[in-house]
Amino acid sequence: MNMIEIITKKKLGQPLTREEITFFARGAADGSIPDYQLAALLMAIRLNGMTPQETTDLTLAMRDSGDVCDLSAIPGVKVDKHSTGGVGDTTTLVLAPLVAACGVPVAKMSGRGLGHTGGTLDKLESVPGLSVSLTEEQFVEQVKELGLAVIGQTASLAPADKTLYALRDVTATVDSLPLIASSIMSKKLASGADAIVLDVKTGSGALMETVEDSIALAQAMVDIGTLSGKPVRAIVTGMDQPLGTHIGNALEVKEAIDVLSGRVTGDLLEVSLLLGSHMLVASGRTQDTDAARTMLLSALRTGSGLSRLKGMIAMQGGDEACVLDTSLLPQPAVIRPVKVGREGYIARMDAEALGYAAQAMGAGRVQKTDEIDPSVGYILPVRIGDRVTPDTTLCTLYARSEEDAAKAEAAIRAAITIGDKPVDRPPLCYAVVTAQGVERLA
Ligand code: URA
Ligand code: CA
Repeated sequence: MNMIEIITKKKLGQPLTREEITFFARGAADGSIPDYQLAALLMAIRLNGMTPQETTDLTLAMRDSGDVCDLSAIPGVKVDKHSTGGVGDTTTLVLAPLVAACGVPVAKMSGRGLGHTGGTLDKLESVPGLSVSLTEEQFVEQVKELGLAVIGQTASLAPADKTLYALRDVTATVDSLPLIASSIMSKKLASGADAIVLDVKTGSGALMETVEDSIALAQAMVDIGTLSGKPVRAIVTGMDQPLGTHIGNALEVKEAIDVLSGRVTGDLLEVSLLLGSHMLVASGRTQDTDAARTMLLSALRTGSGLSRLKGMIAMQGGDEACVLDTSLLPQPAVIRPVKVGREGYIARMDAEALGYAAQAMGAGRVQKTDEIDPSVGYILPVRIGDRVTPDTTLCTLYARSEEDAAKAEAAIRAAITIGDKPVDRPPLCYAVVTAQGVERLA
């Protein structure tokens, strides 16, 4: 097969065959096709798109470019959850222990922060001692014993996606629906779960900013699941503002512990319950999401969710005392509150800019080799629609230095619009997409 012919076909807007797609995915994984030809093909795909069949073929070719995790030794229906990425979005740390406490095994492979979004692995590593690098055997053993493990993707998982993703990042081809859908789904299908719940974000901090684009992405991923024989459902949720009130790695772990301890409610808990209830339904544990929600709330009330998180931290080598005393999590040199300074209503937030503000403080990487500072970030107690006075706390900064804090304060103020008129709160959930179709909720 000839790479120039494949590029030419896609340049002319013609669909590629499964053989052609498998050829370039394999070449991306083993390095036999040079980056410049892959990059040219990616741009042709970005401009001319892919049919649903091509998108599925690419997904399966990328899945099969490396190891597919075998979870069959774990009894029960294993459910995975994946978010397309957000800010202050700690749902995994809240819902995974709750779902596990309801008797559904959670074997989850998570990612690191990307761009303005945070990553579950980076958050977990803020717990002193905790490791996210288990072997497949250790992973399976822990899920059998505890019902819960959250680890990093192994190097051998979907290597074709690793190559293509790195090229997309630097060739302005990230924002392609078939490339996003196949990238996410190849990794999810390779991680071995029986059913998958996707949290597709929409809004100023999401990969797809409009509701229609987000629904289309959700549909594409559900279709891939259907065509490859795995039940997939996608929930389109709001990312018009950070989901939780804490942004930063140790801060988000603290918030998850506060939620699981019953001390804190709000949007993070609501979206966690929503996604968690779809996980329980997808697993067959119960038939409807209302019954599932009741089960999750009971696991919250009895503290069994919190004790699963504690068990997971201990089994992965972390300091479980953090769960009872969150002040044992890493703390920065400077902690200082910022006041709003005027009267009005919180009208709009640029959630992407708010994510970058935390990244610039050291909570994320600007270059691939950067080390994360787990202690930094900020608490943002205000929400869109809130009435504020000059004395209302806008945020509390957790910074490495006064200089960093000043920069973060300026960035956060610039990202938040305060108006004079009352503003509606944005919806938390816009749509549920299953193989049966799209149910619009907002
Ligand atoms: N996350 C992924 O894993 N891949 C994409 O293409 C976008 C987000
Ligand atoms: Ca944006």
